[in-house]
Amino acid sequence: MTDRTVLSKLLRALPKAELHLHIEGTLEPELIFQLAQRNGIALSYPSVEALRAAYAFTDLQSFLDVYYAGASVLIHAQDFEDMAYAYFERAAADGIVHAELFFDPQTHTERGVAMVTVIEGLTRAGARAQQELGISSALILCFLRHLSEDAAFETLEQALPYRQHFIGVGLDSSERGHPPEKFARVFARCRELGLHLVAHAGEEGPPAYIETALDLLKVERIDHGVRCTDSPALVQRLAREQIPLTVCPLSNVKLCVFPQMSEHNLPALLAAGLKVTLNSDDPAYFGGYLLRNYEACFEAFPQWGRAEAIQLARNSLEASFAAPEQKAGWLQHLEAVAAGA
Ligand code: ADE
Ligand code: ZN
Repeated sequence: MTDRTVLSKLLRALPKAELHLHIEGTLEPELIFQLAQRNGIALSYPSVEALRAAYAFTDLQSFLDVYYAGASVLIHAQDFEDMAYAYFERAAADGIVHAELFFDPQTHTERGVAMVTVIEGLTRAGARAQQELGISSALILCFLRHLSEDAAFETLEQALPYRQHFIGVGLDSSERGHPPEKFARVFARCRELGLHLVAHAGEEGPPAYIETALDLLKVERIDHGVRCTDSPALVQRLAREQIPLTVCPLSNVKLCVFPQMSEHNLPALLAAGLKVTLNSDDPAYFGGYLLRNYEACFEAFPQWGRAEAIQLARNSLEASFAAPEQKAGWLQHLEAVAAGA
């Protein structure tokens, strides 16, 4: 076997966690058409091929417009369950042992789909994935930052009856012009409720958004965060505090955050000692699930080898919100794989 084949096998075999995955971003065009037909919804694309051809994005907003349109086919709890279970099957094949799934309830409640429908469908998929695929998972409710903080509070209220079904909250959607501080009060409330806190920051937005997400929202992880390198002082802080960054390489290239993978700043982030994890963001739209993200990086960065593969997988397990005993078990498995057992 060549060195590259050995590395490719290792990438799959290493137990990994996925920490930045929008479940609505796993809707493949085929499933969008299937659900549209099942639910009697008209799509503005004549075929699966035509829809896929529309996936030529120039920035975050150009993607979000297509992504929200795709999510409009989700109506019943069964639709959410089918979507999420399809993701879990792919995740298991990629060697994922734990997945923390983002979901965007406002995208659905705004269309008249009840909060209970969304949470029930996703929860059923998670339970089946544990039982049938041996994958552990958890849900993180995201507030849409292009909407108001009042709307976020309302969403939180609607979700609280199902508090036991989600472990935390996040902040996503259009970043520029919607700084973290817009959501300071609702995040403070979520913190009082004992929820884990994360936020997208520094995907397209400036390093200042990463700082306010940490200082005002008090998040435990930064989603994306790649623009931190515009501020050397911030990079030092992220390294010192070992704040996990959930980086999404294929997403960053597809949304033109970096012109091509070889120009991604991941090698610089890792070399600076940051707690980097690799994730797939919206894999149905960006050309690949988690393993493909790992492979694309190792193809683009020839200086990366075994040590980086093991480090990235270890980071993902350590940065997860899973219980310490569960993490310890996965880390033991990781060390065994790394040792060639
Ligand atoms: N929602 C889904 N994917 C997103 C991303 N990459 N950034 C912000 N919001 C999102
Ligand atoms: Zn994201």
